[in-house]
Amino acid sequence: MANASHELRTPLTTIKLRVEALLGGARNDPAIAERFLSEMESELDRLSHLIDDLLTLSQVEVGLETLKLEKVDLQLLLGEAMATFWPRAEAVGVTLTMDAPPQLPPVKASLPQVRQVIDNLLDNALQYSSSGGLVTVSCRPANGSIAVSVTDTGQGIPAEDLPHVFERFYRSDRSRLRSSGSDRTGGLGLAIVRSIVTAHGGEVSIDSQEGTGTTVRFTLPVYAD
Ligand SMILES: Nc1ncnc2c1ncn2[C@@H]1O[C@H](COP(=O)(O)OP(=O)(O)O)[C@@H](O)[C@H]1O
Ligand SMILES: [Mg+2]
Repeated sequence: MANASHELRTPLTTIKLRVEALLGGARNDPAIAERFLSEMESELDRLSHLIDDLLTLSQVEVGLETLKLEKVDLQLLLGEAMATFWPRAEAVGVTLTMDAPPQLPPVKASLPQVRQVIDNLLDNALQYSSSGGLVTVSCRPANGSIAVSVTDTGQGIPAEDLPHVFERFYRSDRSRLRSSGSDRTGGLGLAIVRSIVTAHGGEVSIDSQEGTGTTVRFTLPVYAD
């Protein structure tokens, strides 16, 4: 709660300062007014994403969201995710590829939750990559499960941060300073990934080398009739 309150407080403080400045006269300078309003808009987007992430996390962790397990076709789902992220990848000069065998068995999972896992991983892969990078999503059958991995050739994670990245609100210092594309930098993305995968009886792991890239792997159980 303390962490969450702090994370909510920061954008609110920025917005409050801008509003005060606008009321105090900055609104009379159209260029400054425009800049303050657009900064406020970004902070509001950040707040809104943060609240969505907090809700998702608490629903998964408290088990409120009773898992509606269904047959999920990962290949189809990954294809959709590719299409969704394609424009953003193109905009930052990153190549997105998918590597999935055609006859992949379905997994037993909650469709919206698996979608969320993939979204969070692709969001990170793109957020921490730069132009010329490559992001690959692959899946393979792995005794009774399907293993999915998202690999990027981005900035990687310092060894001392790696053990903590699945913790709620954890961000490595360097990424705190970066203000790149995404406004989802609440440090909850990987915590949500871990909660969802674990609730499905799967496993999640991360490998990373600073300056070389990162791979996140997770498993989901195969759907057995
Ligand atoms: N693909 C990646 N490449 C480099 N660093 C990553 C990657 N994924 C996660 N991280 C690191 O792990 C931290 C936690 O990730 P996440 O929970 O998604 O929070 P954030 O909202 O900061 O992206 C990030 O702040 C970043 O330092
Ligand atoms: Mg993230």
